[in-house]
Amino acid sequence: MSRINRRSFLAIASGLIPSFLLSKAQASVGFNLAKAASSKGTLLAKSSSIKVGQTQVYTGNDSSGRSVEVILSRTKTGLVALNGTCTHQGCTVALNKTKLICPCHGSVFQANSGVVVLGPNGSPKNAIKPLYKYTVVEKSGNIYIS
Ligand code: FES
Repeated sequence: MSRINRRSFLAIASGLIPSFLLSKAQASVGFNLAKAASSKGTLLAKSSSIKVGQTQVYTGNDSSGRSVEVILSRTKTGLVALNGTCTHQGCTVALNKTKLICPCHGSVFQANSGVVVLGPNGSPKNAIKPLYKYTVVEKSGNIYIS
């Protein structure tokens, strides 16, 4: 467990980060980014599986066979799919309500956009890049990423 500095402690105490220990995926469905079956991309989920305002986590493999998480959100303006690999040093972020929290050094990202809320070890949000966004296509009742 990483050291929690004053800024992170204040963020936790103020409710911004309810708990590092409560970060559980809400949904988990397998996919394989190496097997993009069509030009639309890799099938991630059925359209009906996610409603406006929801965020779900999917686990699968990338083209190298490594485990990867995709965080999918449906906002009022559309779908957003993020790679769950922290842009600081590559740990896998965890969903906690509307935030994605990195267990390694405490970076926090918005779950529905990947925007940085708090950098590693309490550093400013411009210390790291936002989470990688996939291209999302929704067609014929399915959601694809590429
Ligand atoms: S690897 Fe995520 S904050 Fe360091």
